[in-house]
Amino acid sequence: MYYYRWRASKRYYTTQLLIEYAYQNIINKLNLSNVSYKEAFLQKGLTSNIHKAFDSHKCKVVTVTNQKGGVGKTTNAVNISVALAKLGQRVLIVDMDSQAQSSRYFKKVSYKNNYILSIFEKYKINNSVDKEYIKSKIVTFNDFENESYSLDILPSEIKLAKMLELMRMSNRPDTILSKILNQIEDEYDYIIIDTPPYSGLSLEMSLIATDKVVLVSEADEFSVEGLEVTIQEINELNRNLEKKIKIDAVFVNAFSKQHNYANDALDEIMDIVLDKLKLDEEALFIVKHSPSLVRSSQANQQAIIDYKVKVKEALTVFEPMLAYAIKLILEQK
Ligand SMILES: Nc1ncnc2c1ncn2[C@@H]1O[C@H](COP(=O)(O)OP(=O)(O)OP(=O)(O)O)[C@@H](O)[C@H]1O
Ligand SMILES: [Mg+2]
Repeated sequence: MYYYRWRASKRYYTTQLLIEYAYQNIINKLNLSNVSYKEAFLQKGLTSNIHKAFDSHKCKVVTVTNQKGGVGKTTNAVNISVALAKLGQRVLIVDMDSQAQSSRYFKKVSYKNNYILSIFEKYKINNSVDKEYIKSKIVTFNDFENESYSLDILPSEIKLAKMLELMRMSNRPDTILSKILNQIEDEYDYIIIDTPPYSGLSLEMSLIATDKVVLVSEADEFSVEGLEVTIQEINELNRNLEKKIKIDAVFVNAFSKQHNYANDALDEIMDIVLDKLKLDEEALFIVKHSPSLVRSSQANQQAIIDYKVKVKEALTVFEPMLAYAIKLILEQK
């Protein structure tokens, strides 16, 4: 047990190394020298060039999930998306939760009639939906203040849950989201799906549409239970799938090493990652407990890294999301 704790505490170090390695890679490709990775990250203009440094690649769909509520799915889904967008990737956030928290994350975005449920509605009537209609429901968020990124959102609203109930009557309802996203995947490098905290058609559709799953858990017993139930559900789905759903990373959110129960839960999660999921420890990302920063950034409708009041703390909390984004990009090379 002690060994795991030691390894877990080393995670911050490996995350740091990963980022430095990635930036070195990127900086070399862009022929820039003497720029530290943090400066490089914050420097205007550099991030928008990173896309050019990597050849464009096939779109990857990543679902962020756990059937336990309030563990940080939305916070991590949105901030991983922002990290990818800041690294010059073309990103679409798909909000499959009728609570619509990720849709509300970005200020200055007006949704009007742009909602994912209109797409499902149209699909239900015609048994198909064309690309132009899907695109007409997507909203672009531009970070004008920082001029450093833009990303697209397919927003949700409260009526999505009811709409999905009606979709149950369709033929193979679990494949509908996959069919919808297939039509627009040439427009994006990454599609990130935020899911609701329960099992159901929304989660099933998201998992079927996905290439990689990111599990998010807090370091407590109840969240770990949610994690195990979600893994079980993925395993069951995989039994009948040709293209298997791959669990790619586990984020331990709001982690504070001061609490014994949190360290115990982290050990348990580490066991799950290594033994059950057969991943290596690089697949575990630890996000620091930082309630006031996360809450203020949400209240301000800004990504953690853009919430400029606490730059140093923001960098520390954002680093795992950035590290995962970089890992995703480097895997494509
Ligand atoms: N790193 C963190 N440190 C402290 N608090 C956090 C952290 N990340 C998220 N939170 C807080 O936890 C709460 C839940 O976060 P979030 O909405 O991302 O969870 P969720 O899993 O998407 O919830 P739901 O299941 O309702 O969709 C929020 O109030 C948020 O401010
Ligand atoms: Mg959420």
